[in-house]
Amino acid sequence: MRTFDDAVRAFLREHPRGTVVTLAEGVETQFWRVDNGRAHWLCVELPETAKVRRALLPDGERRRTPARSALALSWRDEADASHGVLVTAQGLLMYLRPAEVRQLIAGCAEAFPGGALIFDAVPRWFGERTLRGEMKTARGYVTPPMPWALDAGELPKIRTAHPAVTRGARTAAATRTRRVLRRGLARAAAAAGGAQHPADHGRPGPVRPDRRTAPRTPSAARPLRTVKQRARR
Ligand SMILES: C[S@@+](CC[C@H](N)C(=O)[O-])C[C@H]1O[C@@H](n2cnc3c(N)ncnc32)[C@H](O)[C@@H]1O
Repeated sequence: MRTFDDAVRAFLREHPRGTVVTLAEGVETQFWRVDNGRAHWLCVELPETAKVRRALLPDGERRRTPARSALALSWRDEADASHGVLVTAQGLLMYLRPAEVRQLIAGCAEAFPGGALIFDAVPRWFGERTLRGEMKTARGYVTPPMPWALDAGELPKIRTAHPAVTRGARTAAATRTRRVLRRGLARAAAAAGGAQHPADHGRPGPVRPDRRTAPRTPSAARPLRTVKQRARR
């Protein structure tokens, strides 16, 4: 939660009137923690959950809840990209099939040049255990299958989802990642272009375009760039 809040706050510092698209937000109340009074918020949720969310957290002037699957991609038309877009997917991608995840990442890269995507992921060993029904709590709750998983070292693979993803794919704060990995949940962040990804703030390291995959585009349609930062030991 804190990693996502930090990323949204950093994005809004750079893009005060930007749009934050939260995929699968459930009844999360992040908006009230990070709102700057000018940002726009689009919470894309499945119809049943969207109904509950709207009942508990009614939409406002700058905050809407389109009731549909994130995979439908039609929500992209409702996101005002004129002041920058940050897409968040917290607690979602691991429940999707790998092909769906690729399609979603590609769809974001295509629609929001210069935008960013932040997501979390479970490591492969964890995902495999959920598929075998082996992840149980002490009280017998069986963790639902998580068909999509990603180890921290595999983050650059995110780039292969779409040629427009040319930067990003690295873990969030290394120390946090190590701590979370110990608990069995890898936090990963993929940046999709922009002058600087929100999670880059205060981080060292150059940002280099991937010349092999970056298409030649006018500056208005800046390609996404990729940088990898290794977790410190
Ligand atoms: C584990 S909860 C995560 C909720 C919240 N993001 C959090 O981190 O607390 C998963 C959420 O994903 C939503 N969800 C599942 N599949 C979805 C889809 N295809 N499109 C949009 N939302 C989806 C569910 O309705 C649920 O609210």
